[in-house]
Amino acid sequence: MATIIDGKLAAASVIEAVASASQDLEQDVGVKPGLAVVIVGNDPASHAYVNSKSKMAKQCGFNSIQHSLPEETTQEELECLVAELNADPAIHGILVQLPLPKHFQSEPVIQSIAPEKDVDGLNVVNAGKLATGDLASGLISCTPAGALLLINKIHGTDLSGLNAVVIGRSNLFGKPMGLLLLSSNATVTMAHSRSKDLAAICRHADILVAAVGRPHMVKADWVKPGATVIDVGINRVPAPEKGEGGTRITGDVDYRECSEVAGAITPVPGGVGPMTIAMLMANTVVAACRTFGRPTPKF
Ligand code: GUN
Repeated sequence: MATIIDGKLAAASVIEAVASASQDLEQDVGVKPGLAVVIVGNDPASHAYVNSKSKMAKQCGFNSIQHSLPEETTQEELECLVAELNADPAIHGILVQLPLPKHFQSEPVIQSIAPEKDVDGLNVVNAGKLATGDLASGLISCTPAGALLLINKIHGTDLSGLNAVVIGRSNLFGKPMGLLLLSSNATVTMAHSRSKDLAAICRHADILVAAVGRPHMVKADWVKPGATVIDVGINRVPAPEKGEGGTRITGDVDYRECSEVAGAITPVPGGVGPMTIAMLMANTVVAACRTFGRPTPKF
């Protein structure tokens, strides 16, 4: 049976360090880290994520601001709000929840966020720093940064000699995850929906990271015995055992099967999910510390 990687526990330890750094900052310069989360439209899942981000920001002692904009907000209005937040000295981190409603062009909005406040790590400046191996001066996308901390718990920080496979190639997760693993000396394969024989590629992985958005796609015979399996999927599926219309969250990995083969595995929920929010808080406190020229906490 695989070791279960406890994301809640790891996230709690990050949050403790964030809250302590936030308290120190307030004591020394009289300013709380400020996080602005922007959400447009009525998607219930996005609202649930955003509410938990705002709640955690308050728990960390942050100045937590939420902007909930109606579905019919225009591109210009949204970009105007981002410009205001860029100029607001009380705000150190800005997150625009994705996906935006269909009538938006997301990329210009994301690229309009000031790089030093881009706690999602999506601005080309931050993505470029990661791509060129500068992990120290930019901001790194929260979910891959959190997944890497979980991988470090099993393998340490030097992944030399290990094969890592990432399934998924999004800007928010797959690409930065691949680059982080590469920076840690792993030999990295980035697989995706157009890859040939995904199962065979995955079987080479000492570290297998799945971010495909398809419930239970990764099966036991995709997993090399003893491998570390990191499940980034958050899929809502029917759960008839919860009564009519009941649903539950499940991952991209068939946990029941794969935990028989893997050496270590993240559950869903309770694995990577809590780390995403924790790393958002970590990025915000880091951004705030940099504003005041203070040393940044390490996580
Ligand atoms: N939607 C789902 N995950 C994320 C995330 O990490 N950042 C943003 N901005 N939107 C998301």
